[in-house]
Amino acid sequence: MIYLNGEFMPIEEAKIPVLDRGFIFGDGVYEVIPAYSRRPFRLAEHLARLQASLGRDPHRQSARQRQSGPSWSAGSSRGNPWEDQNVYLQITRGVAKRDHAFPKGLKPTVFLMASELITPVRRSSSKTGAKAIVLPDFRWLRCDIKSTSLLGNCMLRTLAADEGCVEAILVRDGEMTEASASNVFIVKHGTVLAPPKSHLILPGITYDVVLEILRDNAIPHEVRPVKESELRSADEVWVTSSSREVLPITTLDGKPVGIGQARSGRRQGATRSTSNSRRA
Ligand code: PDD
Repeated sequence: MIYLNGEFMPIEEAKIPVLDRGFIFGDGVYEVIPAYSRRPFRLAEHLARLQASLGRDPHRQSARQRQSGPSWSAGSSRGNPWEDQNVYLQITRGVAKRDHAFPKGLKPTVFLMASELITPVRRSSSKTGAKAIVLPDFRWLRCDIKSTSLLGNCMLRTLAADEGCVEAILVRDGEMTEASASNVFIVKHGTVLAPPKSHLILPGITYDVVLEILRDNAIPHEVRPVKESELRSADEVWVTSSSREVLPITTLDGKPVGIGQARSGRRQGATRSTSNSRRA
């Protein structure tokens, strides 16, 4: 079952008018909220980010959606067979005669669907690691908005998929930004490095969770710009997102990252194995 503008229905029955600005201009924002055992994870944070994406312009009427957000996701989770789900929530500006400038007073289109969430425990790539390529970040300069206008991201992800890779890790002006649909962390000499939040990356909910775990466990880490050269010589590379959680990248542009294997949970010996890496 999906939710569209106040009603639950089978996805085959869901219809939107062709003049919806989401269809015509990609004029919409979205969230992907993981639910474990049918309980949404970090729901308040996802809804706060949704509100921030909506709030980037004054014409979107969002308060009503925000208030009923939790009940949508709960309702959607209940009507579907999976214990662990990805709940996709999209709000577009609504239906109007085609005109680039934002029309005032539209009724937003609100759409919610869920799919099965394959958790890392069940996904072999989380243990073996995955491949990525490095590409120039040619997207726009407001990547902090979780917009449904994802043509750039889709192009980059397709270039990665064509090379048999799960992700494209992006570089702008010599610095790592994020990946086509995830944030990126690297490990260098036992310190975890993450680029700071800015208009060049999406402020990931998983990114915040990872930083919290690092802080709580006193694992050395720094939030600072990461150079492309540091990415390319990293001992470990992780991509993080709501659907992939933390996925180790063990091959970058066809070369092994560090020892070329995903490490286990314990970080023991991390600095020692660094000296055996391909930097040696
Ligand atoms: N993508 N950066 C980009 C460009 C993303 O699209 C995503 C998430 C992230 C990670 O954000 P979070 O940890 O809040 O999921 C970073 C989602 C999962 C998607 O578009 O399907």
